[in-house]
Amino acid sequence: MALFIDSSDPKEIKDLYAWGVLSGVTTNPLIISREKPNADLAEVIREILAVSHGDVSVELTTETEHEMVEESLAYHAWDAERITIKVPFSEIGLRVLHQLAKRDIKTNVTCLMAMNQAYLAALGGATYVSIFSGRVRDMGYDVRPVIENTRKVIDREGLPSKIIVGSMRHLMDVNEALEAGAHVPTVTPPILRKMVWNPRTIETINEFNSAWKNRK
Ligand code: E4P
Repeated sequence: MALFIDSSDPKEIKDLYAWGVLSGVTTNPLIISREKPNADLAEVIREILAVSHGDVSVELTTETEHEMVEESLAYHAWDAERITIKVPFSEIGLRVLHQLAKRDIKTNVTCLMAMNQAYLAALGGATYVSIFSGRVRDMGYDVRPVIENTRKVIDREGLPSKIIVGSMRHLMDVNEALEAGAHVPTVTPPILRKMVWNPRTIETINEFNSAWKNRK
């Protein structure tokens, strides 16, 4: 079981890694362009690598098989142990996955909305298969059976892929993903902070501390 942070902000990542509960980072082109519109990708990823440990997923932005393999090899060279190539799922994505799996390069097959897609990615040798909770729900479907069925088939077939669940919009999405069998929820910094917060916990700690300060 692991928990990843879905962010490209090195300051935030460093701060949250200090809690000792994170073991990986997922980024995507949308997150990076929102958080750092003029960023140099290599520089952002270098900063993220420096403040974290574990796998760091970097997503491909090119669209032909040749370009995507070249782009993957360039990212892989930044840190062969930790860089995980985020491959958008498609027919071309599967071809690219196959090329990368043959070279033993770690992969995170992304933008998955259905068990059949996750199954193909797992058969193709993906290190991680990423199911997008919020985006499945945006279409009006329950994501829990997608996660549960993917986990069942991966376990039954003995496939080594781990299920990441991302696109979390609410704290409840994290709880449901864990209950449904996700190996790795990836959460945004605001959602991670919500996982800590509970008014009754704060009230109880305040009650204990004030009893201690006011003892006679
Ligand atoms: C996961 O790896 C993705 O980066 C992310 O969770 C996508 O979330 P979104 O639906 O909020 O774009």
